[in-house]
Amino acid sequence: MPPKSKSKSKPAAAGGGLSRLLAIFAVMTGLLSAVVWLVEQNLDKFYIFDIDHLGDVSKRAIAAHGNNTREVVSYIVSELNERSPAHVNLEEDWVFNNAGGAMGAMYIIHASVTEYLIVFGTAVGTEGHTGRHTADDYFHILSGVQLAYVPGEYEPEVYPQGSVHHLRRGDVKQYKMPESCFALEYARGWIPPMLFFGFADGLSSTLDIPTLWKTTRITGREMIGNLLKGKL
Ligand SMILES: *[C@@H]1O[C@H](CO)[C@@H](O)[C@H](O)[C@H]1NC(C)=O
Repeated sequence: MPPKSKSKSKPAAAGGGLSRLLAIFAVMTGLLSAVVWLVEQNLDKFYIFDIDHLGDVSKRAIAAHGNNTREVVSYIVSELNERSPAHVNLEEDWVFNNAGGAMGAMYIIHASVTEYLIVFGTAVGTEGHTGRHTADDYFHILSGVQLAYVPGEYEPEVYPQGSVHHLRRGDVKQYKMPESCFALEYARGWIPPMLFFGFADGLSSTLDIPTLWKTTRITGREMIGNLLKGKL
């Protein structure tokens, strides 16, 4: 009989620990929600890239270098680096990206909590789901053509070289790059939730661990590096 009373006090102690943990969790959740709410109200104060400038520099780069996309990218990145040297990754380090069934590669120019800027594309074409994101996405076509489809339409949206495809926060489309196509992709809003979409195909389908690791390493380095410089 005595062992029974002993075992009775144990769950009570564990319950005390658990409720303390839950209380801490509740407070942390409350604090985090408050921070998220505050940032959400002032999201545009955190942005360092300018949408009009990105469109303008893309057009000038194409005018200067035509279909020499390597030079187009280099023109854009060096101008961005002149404007915000602390937040631009000059190391043109390409990594595969599988997301929403589409495959291509990307060069991460900037990644922070509220913005990312990459060159995304493929030399062989691809097709997939855009993903439903917590950020606005501006896809500046540097070379090739991108097509997009929205249910209910019977004609594709066509985005040629020099145009911008704006995918609004929360919207989804089917997209296709029928042939070689590269774009300067700029997303602004909440970037961390987008990473789940960016990693899902790698974790569930390709199981390409070195690519996943490289993506994590570059994204983490850029996001944390920017945070340490006070760039959310
Ligand atoms: C790039 O190549 C495509 C296809 O050949 C062509 O239609 C387009 O005009 C070229 N763009 C430039 C800026 O030279």
